[in-house]
Amino acid sequence: MNFQSFKGKSVLITGGMGFIGSNLAIALAHLGAKVTVLDAMIPDYGGNEFNLSPVANQIRVNYCDIRDEMAVSYLVRGQDYIFHLAGQVCHLMSLSNPFPDIEMNITGTAILMEACRKYNPNAVVVYTGTRGQYGPSVSLPVNEEAPTNPKGIYEISNLTAEKIIKVYNDVHGIRSVLLRLSNIYGPRSQMQHSRFGVCNWFVRLAMDNAPIQVFGDGSILRDFCYVDDTVDAILRVANTPEAFGEIFNVGSDIPVSFLELVKTIIDVAGQGAWHYAEFSPERKAQEPGDFYSDVSKIYRIAGWKPTTNLANGLSKTIAFYRENQDKYWQSPNSIDINKIPDATVATIFGAQTR
Ligand SMILES: NC(=O)c1ccc[n+]([C@@H]2O[C@H](COP(=O)([O-])OP(=O)(O)OC[C@H]3O[C@@H](n4cnc5c(N)ncnc54)[C@H](O)[C@@H]3O)[C@@H](O)[C@H]2O)c1
Repeated sequence: MNFQSFKGKSVLITGGMGFIGSNLAIALAHLGAKVTVLDAMIPDYGGNEFNLSPVANQIRVNYCDIRDEMAVSYLVRGQDYIFHLAGQVCHLMSLSNPFPDIEMNITGTAILMEACRKYNPNAVVVYTGTRGQYGPSVSLPVNEEAPTNPKGIYEISNLTAEKIIKVYNDVHGIRSVLLRLSNIYGPRSQMQHSRFGVCNWFVRLAMDNAPIQVFGDGSILRDFCYVDDTVDAILRVANTPEAFGEIFNVGSDIPVSFLELVKTIIDVAGQGAWHYAEFSPERKAQEPGDFYSDVSKIYRIAGWKPTTNLANGLSKTIAFYRENQDKYWQSPNSIDINKIPDATVATIFGAQTR
Protein backbone atom coordinates (compact mmCIF):
# COMPACT_ATOMS: atom_id res chain seq x y z
CA MET A 1 0.00 0.00 0.00
CA ASN A 2 1.17 3.52 -0.73
CA PHE A 3 1.45 5.35 2.58
CA GLN A 4 2.32 8.68 0.97
CA SER A 5 -1.16 9.85 2.00
CA PHE A 6 0.20 10.31 5.56
CA LYS A 7 2.67 12.95 4.34
CA GLY A 8 1.86 16.30 5.92
CA LYS A 9 -1.03 14.81 7.95
CA SER A 10 -1.39 15.53 11.66
CA VAL A 11 -1.45 12.44 13.83
CA LEU A 12 -1.80 11.88 17.55
CA ILE A 13 -0.47 8.66 19.10
CA THR A 14 -1.60 7.95 22.66
CA GLY A 15 0.95 5.73 24.41
CA GLY A 16 3.47 6.73 21.76
CA MET A 17 6.50 6.31 24.06
CA GLY A 18 5.65 2.64 24.50
CA PHE A 19 6.54 -0.42 22.45
CA ILE A 20 4.09 -0.41 19.55
CA GLY A 21 3.33 3.33 19.73
CA SER A 22 6.97 4.35 19.32
CA ASN A 23 7.50 2.03 16.34
CA LEU A 24 4.36 3.58 14.82
CA ALA A 25 5.58 7.12 15.59
CA ILE A 26 8.92 6.44 13.88
CA ALA A 27 7.19 5.01 10.79
CA LEU A 28 4.81 7.97 10.56
CA ALA A 29 7.58 10.55 11.07
CA HIS A 30 9.55 8.87 8.26
CA LEU A 31 6.44 9.12 6.06
CA GLY A 32 6.38 12.88 6.66
CA ALA A 33 3.43 13.02 9.07
CA LYS A 34 3.27 15.66 11.79
CA VAL A 35 3.39 13.40 14.83
CA THR A 36 2.30 14.28 18.36
CA VAL A 37 2.78 11.70 21.09
CA LEU A 38 0.80 11.66 24.32
CA ASP A 39 2.24 9.55 27.11
CA ALA A 40 2.10 9.59 30.90
CA MET A 41 5.35 7.56 31.26
CA ILE A 42 3.95 5.67 34.21
CA PRO A 43 6.80 3.81 35.96
CA ASP A 44 6.92 0.07 35.18
CA TYR A 45 4.76 0.48 32.08
CA GLY A 46 6.28 0.27 28.60
CA GLY A 47 7.28 3.91 28.01
CA ASN A 48 10.94 4.68 27.32
CA GLU A 49 12.24 8.01 26.02
CA PHE A 50 14.99 6.26 24.09
CA ASN A 51 12.29 4.61 21.95
CA LEU A 52 11.72 7.85 20.07
CA SER A 53 15.37 8.86 19.70
CA PRO A 54 15.51 8.20 15.92
CA VAL A 55 12.87 10.91 15.34
CA ALA A 56 13.36 13.07 18.45
CA ASN A 57 13.66 16.26 16.43
CA GLN A 58 10.69 15.58 14.20
CA ILE A 59 7.90 14.93 16.67
CA ARG A 60 6.17 16.60 19.59
CA VAL A 61 5.78 14.80 22.91
CA ASN A 62 3.22 15.69 25.54
CA TYR A 63 3.60 14.12 28.95
CA CYS A 64 0.02 13.83 30.03
CA ASP A 65 -2.46 11.23 31.08
CA ILE A 66 -5.20 9.93 28.82
CA ARG A 67 -7.60 10.63 31.71
CA ASP A 68 -6.75 14.34 31.70
CA GLU A 69 -9.83 15.70 29.98
CA MET A 70 -8.43 19.18 29.42
CA ALA A 71 -5.18 18.00 27.89
CA VAL A 72 -6.87 15.40 25.70
CA SER A 73 -9.48 17.91 24.51
CA TYR A 74 -6.64 20.19 23.48
CA LEU A 75 -4.55 17.50 21.81
CA VAL A 76 -7.25 15.93 19.61
CA ARG A 77 -7.95 19.21 17.81
CA GLY A 78 -6.77 19.36 14.23
CA GLN A 79 -5.57 15.76 14.12
CA ASP A 80 -6.29 13.80 10.93
CA TYR A 81 -5.58 10.47 12.61
CA ILE A 82 -5.64 9.39 16.24
CA PHE A 83 -3.96 6.10 17.13
CA HIS A 84 -5.10 5.06 20.60
CA LEU A 85 -2.51 2.80 22.25
CA ALA A 86 -2.21 4.21 25.78
CA GLY A 87 -3.32 1.98 28.59
CA GLN A 88 -2.62 -0.46 31.35
CA VAL A 89 -1.43 -3.53 29.45
CA CYS A 90 -0.59 -6.05 32.18
CA HIS A 91 -3.02 -8.94 32.45
CA LEU A 92 -1.50 -10.09 35.76
CA MET A 93 -1.72 -6.68 37.41
CA SER A 94 -5.37 -6.38 36.43
CA LEU A 95 -6.12 -9.49 38.47
CA SER A 96 -4.88 -8.01 41.74
CA ASN A 97 -5.89 -4.39 41.06
CA PRO A 98 -8.62 -3.85 38.47
CA PHE A 99 -8.88 -0.09 38.90
CA PRO A 100 -6.06 1.13 36.61
CA ASP A 101 -7.65 -0.85 33.77
CA ILE A 102 -11.08 0.53 34.51
CA GLU A 103 -9.78 4.09 34.83
CA MET A 104 -7.22 4.17 32.04
CA ASN A 105 -8.58 1.73 29.50
CA ILE A 106 -12.29 2.36 29.90
CA THR A 107 -12.63 5.90 31.30
CA GLY A 108 -9.54 7.05 29.36
CA THR A 109 -11.02 5.78 26.11
CA ALA A 110 -14.36 7.46 26.84
CA ILE A 111 -12.53 10.74 27.54
CA LEU A 112 -10.67 10.47 24.24
CA MET A 113 -13.81 9.71 22.23
CA GLU A 114 -15.82 12.48 23.91
CA ALA A 115 -13.02 14.89 23.07
CA CYS A 116 -13.20 13.71 19.45
CA ARG A 117 -16.98 14.12 19.38
CA LYS A 118 -16.78 17.65 20.74
CA TYR A 119 -13.62 18.98 19.12
CA ASN A 120 -12.66 16.81 16.17
CA PRO A 121 -15.37 14.49 14.83
CA ASN A 122 -13.55 14.26 11.49
CA ALA A 123 -10.53 12.40 12.85
CA VAL A 124 -9.98 8.74 11.97
CA VAL A 125 -9.38 6.69 15.14
CA VAL A 126 -7.53 3.37 15.30
CA TYR A 127 -7.67 1.35 18.52
CA THR A 128 -5.41 -1.56 19.46
CA GLY A 129 -7.25 -4.07 21.62
CA THR A 130 -6.13 -7.59 22.41
CA ARG A 131 -6.80 -11.16 21.30
CA GLY A 132 -7.49 -11.77 25.00
CA GLN A 133 -10.90 -10.20 24.42
CA TYR A 134 -11.97 -13.57 22.97
CA GLY A 135 -11.02 -15.61 26.03
CA PRO A 136 -10.72 -19.38 25.48
CA SER A 137 -10.94 -20.32 21.79
CA VAL A 138 -14.08 -22.12 20.72
CA SER A 139 -12.50 -23.14 17.42
CA LEU A 140 -9.19 -22.44 15.68
CA PRO A 141 -8.10 -20.24 14.02
CA VAL A 142 -10.15 -17.59 15.81
CA ASN A 143 -12.02 -15.17 13.58
CA GLU A 144 -13.73 -11.91 14.46
CA GLU A 145 -17.15 -13.60 14.77
CA ALA A 146 -15.96 -15.77 17.69
CA PRO A 147 -17.62 -15.23 21.08
CA THR A 148 -15.91 -12.90 23.53
CA ASN A 149 -15.57 -14.35 27.03
CA PRO A 150 -12.46 -12.67 28.43
CA LYS A 151 -10.69 -14.18 31.43
CA GLY A 152 -9.35 -11.03 33.04
CA ILE A 153 -10.10 -7.40 33.82
CA TYR A 154 -7.46 -6.15 31.36
CA GLU A 155 -9.21 -8.02 28.57
CA ILE A 156 -12.66 -6.88 29.71
CA SER A 157 -11.43 -3.29 29.78
CA ASN A 158 -10.12 -3.61 26.21
CA LEU A 159 -13.39 -5.13 25.04
CA THR A 160 -15.32 -2.34 26.72
CA ALA A 161 -13.05 0.30 25.18
CA GLU A 162 -13.63 -1.30 21.79
CA LYS A 163 -17.39 -1.16 22.28
CA ILE A 164 -17.22 2.47 23.41
CA ILE A 165 -15.33 3.41 20.25
CA LYS A 166 -17.78 1.42 18.11
CA VAL A 167 -20.65 3.45 19.56
CA TYR A 168 -18.86 6.67 18.61
CA ASN A 169 -18.33 5.25 15.13
CA ASP A 170 -21.92 4.11 14.68
CA VAL A 171 -23.80 6.84 16.52
CA HIS A 172 -21.58 9.90 16.22
CA GLY A 173 -19.96 9.12 12.88
CA ILE A 174 -16.37 9.14 14.16
CA ARG A 175 -14.64 6.83 11.70
CA SER A 176 -12.85 4.18 13.75
CA VAL A 177 -11.07 0.88 13.27
CA LEU A 178 -10.87 -1.72 16.02
CA LEU A 179 -7.91 -4.07 16.07
CA ARG A 180 -7.38 -7.14 18.22
CA LEU A 181 -3.65 -7.79 18.43
CA SER A 182 -2.12 -11.18 19.15
CA ASN A 183 1.31 -11.50 20.85
CA ILE A 184 3.50 -8.75 19.43
CA TYR A 185 7.30 -8.83 19.71
CA GLY A 186 10.23 -6.80 18.45
CA PRO A 187 12.39 -3.76 19.22
CA ARG A 188 11.39 -1.07 21.78
CA SER A 189 9.46 -3.20 24.22
CA GLN A 190 10.07 -2.96 27.95
CA MET A 191 12.60 -5.66 28.89
CA GLN A 192 12.77 -5.27 32.66
CA HIS A 193 10.13 -7.58 33.96
CA SER A 194 8.14 -10.62 32.87
CA ARG A 195 4.68 -9.23 33.56
CA PHE A 196 3.86 -8.53 29.89
CA GLY A 197 5.45 -9.20 26.52
CA VAL A 198 6.30 -12.89 26.92
CA CYS A 199 8.27 -13.31 23.68
CA ASN A 200 10.46 -10.28 24.32
CA TRP A 201 11.01 -11.42 27.90
CA PHE A 202 12.21 -14.82 26.66
CA VAL A 203 14.61 -12.96 24.35
CA ARG A 204 16.07 -11.18 27.36
CA LEU A 205 16.44 -14.41 29.33
CA ALA A 206 18.26 -16.04 26.41
CA MET A 207 20.55 -13.01 26.04
CA ASP A 208 21.26 -13.15 29.79
CA ASN A 209 21.87 -16.92 29.58
CA ALA A 210 19.17 -17.29 32.23
CA PRO A 211 16.99 -20.42 32.10
CA ILE A 212 13.63 -20.03 30.35
CA GLN A 213 10.77 -21.87 32.03
CA VAL A 214 8.42 -23.70 29.68
CA PHE A 215 5.17 -24.35 31.51
CA GLY A 216 3.45 -27.74 31.25
CA ASP A 217 4.60 -29.64 28.17
CA GLY A 218 5.10 -26.41 26.16
CA SER A 219 2.51 -27.42 23.58
CA ILE A 220 0.15 -24.44 24.01
CA LEU A 221 -0.14 -22.60 20.71
CA ARG A 222 0.07 -18.85 20.06
CA ASP A 223 0.64 -16.63 17.07
CA PHE A 224 3.47 -14.14 17.36
CA CYS A 225 3.50 -11.05 15.18
CA TYR A 226 6.55 -8.86 14.52
CA VAL A 227 6.06 -5.22 15.44
CA ASP A 228 6.84 -3.85 11.94
CA ASP A 229 4.05 -6.02 10.55
CA THR A 230 1.77 -4.71 13.31
CA VAL A 231 2.61 -1.10 12.42
CA ASP A 232 1.92 -1.91 8.77
CA ALA A 233 -1.53 -3.26 9.75
CA ILE A 234 -2.31 -0.13 11.78
CA LEU A 235 -1.34 2.17 8.89
CA ARG A 236 -3.24 0.14 6.31
CA VAL A 237 -6.54 0.11 8.18
CA ALA A 238 -6.27 3.84 8.89
CA ASN A 239 -5.90 4.32 5.14
CA THR A 240 -8.77 2.04 4.09
CA PRO A 241 -12.28 3.57 4.23
CA GLU A 242 -13.85 0.08 3.92
CA ALA A 243 -12.19 -0.75 7.26
CA PHE A 244 -13.98 1.98 9.20
CA GLY A 245 -16.36 0.57 11.81
CA GLU A 246 -14.80 -2.89 11.50
CA ILE A 247 -13.04 -5.23 13.93
CA PHE A 248 -9.89 -6.99 12.69
CA ASN A 249 -7.52 -9.56 14.09
CA VAL A 250 -3.84 -8.70 13.72
CA GLY A 251 -1.63 -11.74 14.20
CA SER A 252 -0.62 -14.77 12.26
CA ASP A 253 -2.46 -17.89 11.26
CA ILE A 254 0.79 -19.85 11.60
CA PRO A 255 0.66 -21.17 15.17
CA VAL A 256 3.79 -21.82 17.20
CA SER A 257 4.01 -23.76 20.46
CA PHE A 258 5.79 -22.15 23.41
CA LEU A 259 8.40 -24.89 23.22
CA GLU A 260 9.04 -24.14 19.56
CA LEU A 261 9.22 -20.41 20.33
CA VAL A 262 11.81 -20.92 23.05
CA LYS A 263 13.92 -23.27 20.93
CA THR A 264 13.83 -20.78 18.03
CA ILE A 265 14.90 -17.90 20.29
CA ILE A 266 17.84 -19.90 21.66
CA ASP A 267 18.79 -21.03 18.17
CA VAL A 268 18.68 -17.50 16.70
CA ALA A 269 20.43 -15.93 19.70
CA GLY A 270 23.06 -18.66 19.75
CA GLN A 271 22.76 -18.71 23.55
CA GLY A 272 20.31 -19.47 26.36
CA ALA A 273 18.78 -22.51 28.04
CA TRP A 274 15.32 -23.80 28.95
CA HIS A 275 13.60 -26.33 31.20
CA TYR A 276 10.07 -27.54 31.85
CA ALA A 277 8.18 -26.12 34.85
CA GLU A 278 4.80 -26.70 36.46
CA PHE A 279 2.06 -24.11 35.98
CA SER A 280 1.36 -22.27 39.22
CA PRO A 281 -2.34 -22.62 40.21
CA GLU A 282 -2.91 -18.92 39.33
CA ARG A 283 -1.31 -19.27 35.90
CA LYS A 284 -3.26 -22.45 35.23
CA ALA A 285 -6.56 -20.79 36.13
CA GLN A 286 -5.90 -17.85 33.82
CA GLU A 287 -4.42 -19.74 30.88
CA PRO A 288 -6.92 -19.52 28.00
CA GLY A 289 -5.27 -22.40 26.06
CA ASP A 290 -4.41 -22.51 22.37
CA PHE A 291 -4.97 -19.37 20.36
CA TYR A 292 -4.11 -18.31 16.86
CA SER A 293 -5.74 -15.69 14.71
CA ASP A 294 -7.66 -15.95 11.49
CA VAL A 295 -6.30 -12.92 9.64
CA SER A 296 -8.26 -13.40 6.42
CA LYS A 297 -10.63 -10.48 7.09
CA ILE A 298 -7.90 -7.84 7.33
CA TYR A 299 -6.26 -9.33 4.22
CA ARG A 300 -9.54 -9.21 2.31
CA ILE A 301 -10.43 -5.63 3.28
CA ALA A 302 -7.09 -3.88 3.85
CA GLY A 303 -4.68 -6.17 1.97
CA TRP A 304 -2.61 -6.89 5.09
CA LYS A 305 -0.83 -10.07 6.02
CA PRO A 306 2.26 -10.57 8.14
CA THR A 307 5.45 -10.84 6.10
CA THR A 308 8.10 -11.45 8.77
CA ASN A 309 8.63 -15.04 9.80
CA LEU A 310 9.47 -15.84 13.41
CA ALA A 311 13.18 -16.54 12.89
CA ASN A 312 13.70 -13.32 10.90
CA GLY A 313 11.71 -11.23 13.38
CA LEU A 314 13.67 -12.69 16.29
CA SER A 315 16.94 -12.09 14.52
CA LYS A 316 16.09 -8.36 14.07
CA THR A 317 14.83 -8.18 17.65
CA ILE A 318 17.96 -9.71 19.14
CA ALA A 319 20.22 -7.51 16.99
CA PHE A 320 18.37 -4.39 18.23
CA TYR A 321 18.63 -5.33 21.91
CA ARG A 322 22.29 -6.35 21.57
CA GLU A 323 23.03 -2.89 20.22
CA ASN A 324 20.89 -1.03 22.77
CA GLN A 325 20.95 -3.31 25.80
CA ASP A 326 21.92 -0.52 28.20
CA LYS A 327 18.73 1.41 27.29
CA TYR A 328 16.40 -1.51 28.07
CA TRP A 329 17.97 -3.73 30.73
CA GLN A 330 18.19 -0.97 33.31
CA SER A 331 15.31 1.15 34.52
CA PRO A 332 14.46 3.37 31.53
CA ASN A 333 14.32 7.10 31.71
CA SER A 334 10.89 6.92 33.31
CA ILE A 335 9.20 10.11 34.29
CA ASP A 336 6.67 10.12 37.09
CA ILE A 337 3.80 12.24 35.79
CA ASN A 338 2.97 13.31 39.34
CA LYS A 339 6.39 14.89 39.66
CA ILE A 340 6.07 17.12 36.59
CA PRO A 341 5.14 20.62 37.79
CA ASP A 342 2.64 21.29 35.02
CA ALA A 343 1.43 17.76 34.52
CA THR A 344 -1.23 18.73 32.03
CA VAL A 345 1.02 19.54 29.13
CA ALA A 346 4.78 19.45 29.37
CA THR A 347 6.98 19.34 26.34
CA ILE A 348 10.33 17.94 25.43
CA PHE A 349 12.45 18.06 22.32
CA GLY A 350 11.82 21.80 22.20
CA ALA A 351 8.40 21.50 20.60
CA GLN A 352 5.78 24.06 21.49
CA THR A 353 2.38 22.56 22.15
CA ARG A 354 0.22 25.29 23.54
N1 LIG B 1 2.33 -5.73 22.94
C1 LIG B 1 1.40 -6.65 22.73
O1 LIG B 1 1.71 -7.84 22.56
C2 LIG B 1 -0.06 -6.26 22.71
C3 LIG B 1 -0.98 -7.28 22.47
C4 LIG B 1 -2.33 -6.94 22.45
C5 LIG B 1 -2.73 -5.64 22.62
N2 LIG B 1 -1.81 -4.67 22.84
C6 LIG B 1 -2.31 -3.30 23.05
O2 LIG B 1 -1.55 -2.37 22.30
C7 LIG B 1 -1.44 -1.14 23.03
C8 LIG B 1 0.01 -0.75 23.16
O3 LIG B 1 0.71 -1.80 23.83
P1 LIG B 1 2.27 -1.79 24.04
O4 LIG B 1 2.71 -3.22 24.02
O5 LIG B 1 2.91 -0.82 23.14
O6 LIG B 1 2.35 -1.30 25.56
P2 LIG B 1 3.41 -0.34 26.27
O7 LIG B 1 3.19 -0.48 27.72
O8 LIG B 1 4.78 -0.56 25.74
O9 LIG B 1 2.93 1.10 25.80
C9 LIG B 1 1.82 1.73 26.36
C10 LIG B 1 2.17 3.17 26.60
O10 LIG B 1 1.02 3.82 27.12
C11 LIG B 1 1.43 4.69 28.14
N3 LIG B 1 0.31 4.86 29.07
C12 LIG B 1 -0.20 3.92 29.90
N4 LIG B 1 -1.21 4.44 30.61
C13 LIG B 1 -1.34 5.74 30.23
C14 LIG B 1 -2.19 6.77 30.58
N5 LIG B 1 -3.11 6.60 31.56
N6 LIG B 1 -2.08 7.97 29.96
C15 LIG B 1 -1.13 8.16 29.02
N7 LIG B 1 -0.26 7.20 28.64
C16 LIG B 1 -0.36 6.00 29.24
C17 LIG B 1 2.60 3.99 28.81
O11 LIG B 1 3.42 4.92 29.52
C18 LIG B 1 3.30 3.35 27.63
O12 LIG B 1 4.30 4.20 27.10
C19 LIG B 1 -2.13 -1.38 24.38
O13 LIG B 1 -3.43 -0.88 24.32
C20 LIG B 1 -2.17 -2.89 24.50
O14 LIG B 1 -3.26 -3.32 25.28
C21 LIG B 1 -0.48 -4.95 22.88
